[in-house]
Amino acid sequence: MRGRARVAETGTGAGVGAAWIVSALDPSVPFFTAETDAGRAAAAADLFADDPNVSVLHGDWHDALPEHAPFDLLFHDGSKRRPDVDGEDTLRLLAPRGLVVLDDLTPGRPGPDEVREFWLRHPELASTELRVSDREAVIVAVRTR
Ligand SMILES: C[S@@+](CC[C@H](N)C(=O)[O-])C[C@H]1O[C@@H](n2cnc3c(N)ncnc32)[C@H](O)[C@@H]1O
Repeated sequence: MRGRARVAETGTGAGVGAAWIVSALDPSVPFFTAETDAGRAAAAADLFADDPNVSVLHGDWHDALPEHAPFDLLFHDGSKRRPDVDGEDTLRLLAPRGLVVLDDLTPGRPGPDEVREFWLRHPELASTELRVSDREAVIVAVRTR
């Protein structure tokens, strides 16, 4: 991607998403990913050991990522189900005009949905939901202020 100077992910998991993101970035762009699970964080750190611009941080993203922010692109994939509790913390990680992406939404899910409520209606975001398969949708949102 062009125009991304700092990029991050919440929830490294096994590092698969991180690998895809890093593969699309200019190699000089710093990328930070945070993971609470010690084993997964260590395995992912091992995976990216040869890439000096990738930092796998062991810990809760709420603690680990703010000192490296603001980010131009954030893949929000760890503990994202309660934006009513910490959505504003997530937003503060973004640079103005920064982009946040959330995946694994169920298309047409009935009933109250805090994730959609926060990310699709926030006054400081321009957001949309994209259906990427029969069973999956993603939210893409740009911070407008
Ligand atoms: C869906 S998996 C991540 C998958 C990965 N992003 C990928 O695309 O390959 C979610 C991960 O978030 C981690 N996680 C959950 N809450 C977290 C938090 N508060 N801070 C950091 N990691 C968290 C979980 O341990 C889990 O490994």
